[in-house]
Amino acid sequence: RKPTITVIGSINVDLVTVTNRLPEQGETIKGETFETKSGGKGANQAVAAARLGANVQMIGCVGADKNGADMLETLEKENISTKMIRKVPHTNTGVANILLSNQDNRIIYVPGANNEVSPEYVKQFKNEILASDLVLIQFEIPQETVLYCLDFCAENNVPIIVNPAPANTIPEEYWNKATYITPNEGEAAHLFNLEYMSDDLNDKLIITKGEHGVSYRVNNERLLIPANTVTPVDTTGAGDTFNGALCTALSEQKTMEQAIVFANAASALSIQKFGAQSGMPTREEVEAFLEEINNVG
Ligand code: RIB
Ligand code: NA
Repeated sequence: RKPTITVIGSINVDLVTVTNRLPEQGETIKGETFETKSGGKGANQAVAAARLGANVQMIGCVGADKNGADMLETLEKENISTKMIRKVPHTNTGVANILLSNQDNRIIYVPGANNEVSPEYVKQFKNEILASDLVLIQFEIPQETVLYCLDFCAENNVPIIVNPAPANTIPEEYWNKATYITPNEGEAAHLFNLEYMSDDLNDKLIITKGEHGVSYRVNNERLLIPANTVTPVDTTGAGDTFNGALCTALSEQKTMEQAIVFANAASALSIQKFGAQSGMPTREEVEAFLEEINNVG
């Protein structure tokens, strides 16, 4: 049986401008290329998990515009269930303006329809959430929805993984309701103080550190699993690939160490192609990559 993952999160259109440098204040510069891509942390994570073999359903909202229709089509092509995605009138589909220069990316995100993913909206899908093996959520939807989902999943023993991106503080008792929390290094520094935190909460933190690897905690000790060395083309969505892959592996009852190794491989593959979703690997690609590493190492 394939595990079912419910992703509750954002759907965006990424407007990606590639430039050699960033403009100064008041300056206009000529960029290199422009492309429209599918994105949004929720959708990206859903696509990553679906390509890796999970049964994925998504709860979210798009606008009743062309972008929204395009994004629904993308998700359907990836075999993601879109039955719980609503087209909201009178608002735009989420948009992310991405400036990509020399491996650095800067993003301005306009939520639009993602703001309509309210607790009331999510409540209609209680049964689908209860029937999931795992719930995956991020911070591009309203905070009260994240809190509602944490309450509901904790009360009903549904594992919930929180990717706190973009970083946003929530009350401490809510962090404790998460099964795991997956900040990157910057988000972790902003949100948590590892020195003054309970062991219980510390054990939940899986911290992604880009090329430096991923840290997690076992037997009161923080361990680092190194990243795979690859030449990045576009790191947009690397964290999303990691999260989708981690959840797929965990929902298959892999150990945390195995799940991180698997997710590291998936994200290393994904950053070698342009676009958040374009480079996300299939199961076969990740397995071939892992085999190659094992043979070499
Ligand atoms: O994590 C990457 C995503 O964040 C992009 O696809 C963009 O939509 C932004 O919101
Ligand atoms: Na990519």
